[in-house]
Amino acid sequence: MFKFSKLTRSNYLSSLDTTKEELLQIFKLAKLFKSNSLSIDLKNKVLGLIFDKSSTRTRVSFQVAMSRLGGTTIDLNPLTSQIGRGETIKDTARVLSKYCDVLAIRTFNQSTLEEYTKWSSKPIINALTDLEHPCQALADFFTIQEEFTNFDDVVLTFIGDGNNVANSIILCGALCGAEIRIACPPGYEPDSLIIERAKEINHNFSLVITNDINDAVINANVLYTDVWSSMGEENLKENKDKDFEGFTIDSELLNKADKTAIVLHCLPAYRGKEITDEIIDHDRSRIFQQAENRMHVQQALLACLLQ
Ligand code: CP
Ligand code: NVA
Repeated sequence: MFKFSKLTRSNYLSSLDTTKEELLQIFKLAKLFKSNSLSIDLKNKVLGLIFDKSSTRTRVSFQVAMSRLGGTTIDLNPLTSQIGRGETIKDTARVLSKYCDVLAIRTFNQSTLEEYTKWSSKPIINALTDLEHPCQALADFFTIQEEFTNFDDVVLTFIGDGNNVANSIILCGALCGAEIRIACPPGYEPDSLIIERAKEINHNFSLVITNDINDAVINANVLYTDVWSSMGEENLKENKDKDFEGFTIDSELLNKADKTAIVLHCLPAYRGKEITDEIIDHDRSRIFQQAENRMHVQQALLACLLQ
């Protein structure tokens, strides 16, 4: 039986809520879960899912992860619970944490999650906010580890908007020790506090923020992209489509990266916008392996929070 420790922090709101050692432990566990070499019993444990935004991967991978661990999930649709009618987070969190053992929440502001943690007696997991998507970053770096083994040798170039997905990649990259390059149009650079925190936790962290995608992909081992307009930004779509013109991962760009480079995308994708059809389905794409890995890393995360 693989011995593992509970996470030091009781919530997982940010990619910085684990140490490097804890992150590597999650990857070890995920590998064992993926190869069906480990079973952990979370019988009678209940995960509540509160999603203020749509989701396919995060919702379903959490449901299946919990079921594989022997536990159950409750889908707490805010529209059909009292949350949608304005019941306070304070009251909601106090009540739900009496029923559930852990809550995964997808919402807009990071401060909403922080408010939940103030009143919940059980762990809160960030299932995506406008600031971070740490569960996604777990799957991303686990997928990279499967391909390259040693993070110190990896250059990851993210091409797109410097928001939630990019922010968690920066923080997780700083923890792992990979080089991270963010290529975005002017005005779409990542949050300066995220950059500051990443540099604080890793003084040797190599982080490049640039508006030049061609420069950014030279010698890159991983090309990564995300949608140009995130959930909640539907009204900005027309302008953002113009601003991001040219920031597409296509075969010409892939050819400028390292010849063994792989391609990642958190999905859902707008094929033909941030990434071409050809690249999503390319033999260097690991996008569907990355999506599968959401389930394995979240199984590991739940085990480390609840065991
Ligand atoms: N990548 C991701 O979080 O996908 P969903 O929005 O489908 O959950
Ligand atoms: N940046 C995207 C990620 C979706 C998984 C969004 O927030 O909509």
